[in-house]
Amino acid sequence: MKLFVFHTPELTPTATVADCAIAVDVLRATSTIATALGAGAEAVQAFSDLDKLLEVSETWAPDKRIRAGERGGAQVEGFDFGNSPLACTPDLVSGRRLFISTTNGTRALQCIEAAPVVLAAALINRRAVVQHLVQHKPATVWIVGSGWEGSFSLEDTVCAGAIAHGLQAELGCSLADLAGNDETIAAVSLYSQWRPNLLDLFYLASHGQRLLKLGIIEDLKYCAQEDILDVLPIQRELGVLVKH
Ligand code: MLT
Repeated sequence: MKLFVFHTPELTPTATVADCAIAVDVLRATSTIATALGAGAEAVQAFSDLDKLLEVSETWAPDKRIRAGERGGAQVEGFDFGNSPLACTPDLVSGRRLFISTTNGTRALQCIEAAPVVLAAALINRRAVVQHLVQHKPATVWIVGSGWEGSFSLEDTVCAGAIAHGLQAELGCSLADLAGNDETIAAVSLYSQWRPNLLDLFYLASHGQRLLKLGIIEDLKYCAQEDILDVLPIQRELGVLVKH
């Protein structure tokens, strides 16, 4: 298995696809997707465009859908939810489809949607992702960070490093064997340094600071936890993720 980390959708190759591609948006889209599926959502359907989301979700019965829209960290007016994983409680999401559009995370999912296997990873479901990779052993794996509007983000890179670190331990392989690019090695270094203090790293991160300015602190604490959800979001049809 060769693992490649790309920091943003913009840096992800377009001429080829990996055997397995993984979108990461720790703060907060992929944390929200895993949490919604863990709380019993029927599926999560991701859109980069808010108008398209409204058009497609309009064909669903209102009691079977939740519309989640986030831009700049804040909830989009007129939507049921913003992008908080903590809003995804079983009483609100169970049996319903979450239609979601976020600033960067849903774009990352869209950029890898043509891969044969598409997963969504965050720190909270890291182990489930590692176990899937260990079981299926795809030859090439891409981890695509969402970043922020084309720029690198600490939280997505540390999650990529956490996945690579877990794979090394499970497969018993060296970083030289696993890493397909320099970004993978840098991600593992970042994780090794910050592993005991992931929340402190989020407080330093530019998007962590953006969320803190909006008064969003509980989401940061929740998203900084590792392996608390045994949920693997996997794409069943273009843009639609279900619990594996
Ligand atoms: C994004 O897609 O950029 C994020 O998930 C933003 C957020 O924290 O809601």
